[in-house]
Amino acid sequence: MKALVYNGPGQKSWVEKEKPEIEKPTDVIVRITKTTICGTDLHILKGDVPAVTPGRTLGHEGVGIVEAVGDAVANFKPGDPVLISCVTSCGKCANCKRQLYAHCSDGGWILGHLIDGTQAEYVRIPHGDNSLYPIPEGADEEALVMLSDIMPTGLEIGVQYGRVKPGDTIAIIGAGPVGMSVLLTAQFYSPGRIVMIDMDPARLELAKQFGATDTLQVGADDVVARIMEMTGGLGVDVAIEAVGVPATFDTCQKIVSAGGSIANVGVHGKPVELHIEELWIKNINISMGLVSTNTTPMLLKTLGSGKVDPAKLVTHRFKLDEILDAYEVFSNAAREKAMKVILNA
Ligand SMILES: NC(=O)c1ccc[n+]([C@@H]2O[C@H](COP(=O)([O-])OP(=O)(O)OC[C@H]3O[C@@H](n4cnc5c(N)ncnc54)[C@H](O)[C@@H]3O)[C@@H](O)[C@H]2O)c1
Ligand SMILES: [Zn+2]
Ligand SMILES: [Zn+2]
Repeated sequence: MKALVYNGPGQKSWVEKEKPEIEKPTDVIVRITKTTICGTDLHILKGDVPAVTPGRTLGHEGVGIVEAVGDAVANFKPGDPVLISCVTSCGKCANCKRQLYAHCSDGGWILGHLIDGTQAEYVRIPHGDNSLYPIPEGADEEALVMLSDIMPTGLEIGVQYGRVKPGDTIAIIGAGPVGMSVLLTAQFYSPGRIVMIDMDPARLELAKQFGATDTLQVGADDVVARIMEMTGGLGVDVAIEAVGVPATFDTCQKIVSAGGSIANVGVHGKPVELHIEELWIKNINISMGLVSTNTTPMLLKTLGSGKVDPAKLVTHRFKLDEILDAYEVFSNAAREKAMKVILNA
């Protein structure tokens, strides 16, 4: 089979590889029908995630058809269409029992990281019963690919950890696929005002179409001053960081109101300065974490009922064997006006 393989920092190739086989009775082999590329794959390719070793197949998102199941798999059989979660979970360990699948003792984020991932014709999914979801009849498969990672990340780490409530004024910093997923899922809770902040005017324009009430452009607007103006000097109820750099976390510290929340979603590679000398008196909450995808069943229902349409995040489509072209487009997202790319097998 063919797979997109990481060959060390800056190097990747689309190569012939052994088709995966059942290794444990709980494994499921899935034939990929649609997959995508995540900003995290670009981080890996830069060499920012040293746990990924040369030879690893990348990718942790996708949908497909069950090809084979191990003897202990009860929920799936060959031929079943499935959604692959970016987080693998046994469903039985102490952390899985409290729905903290991100910290499963025999799983977590391992796909395209510690084991071969989904940017291939076939993938082995450990603990298939708990790490795959059946695809409802008639579901939009492009929308489902958004449920592997970015939509649960936005909902769990941005909206739920940030405690977004009806009427709130919220600010989302970073209008990439993850920030956009925060924007879409925050609307389940009817915030009064949603301010989207980015430096890319095209992404801000898209954010308006997706429900942002206001946008601020880093570089052109004085973000902190404008937020204070908008909120009568109070600041925002929830400041959500969806970039992963110190500057944007710092903006969150400056714009959060007394009693508010900072929800950090971005993956950080450098320390940030925590202004506890200003924040201690403000009765705020600061949260952060890795997505558990425990909200996937709920997101599947919202998709089914038409409450949310994540397929609108898809801007480009390629055949799976054109994946190197897809990487080129996704790596130049601002120039190409790209948000999510779909790869069709
Ligand atoms: N916590 C988790 O479980 C989890 C899961 C998935 C992704 N992530 C992280 O979420 C973050 C966002 O992911 P993405 O795929 O949307 O990334 P992305 O790179 O596509 O988007 C980031 C956006 O931030 C904007 N930006 C960059 N610098 C900025 C600045 N100084 N001020 C304002 N905007 C700025 C960019 O223009 C871009 O639109 C990443 O750090 C990613 O690793 C976290
Ligand atoms: Zn991802
Ligand atoms: Zn577990």
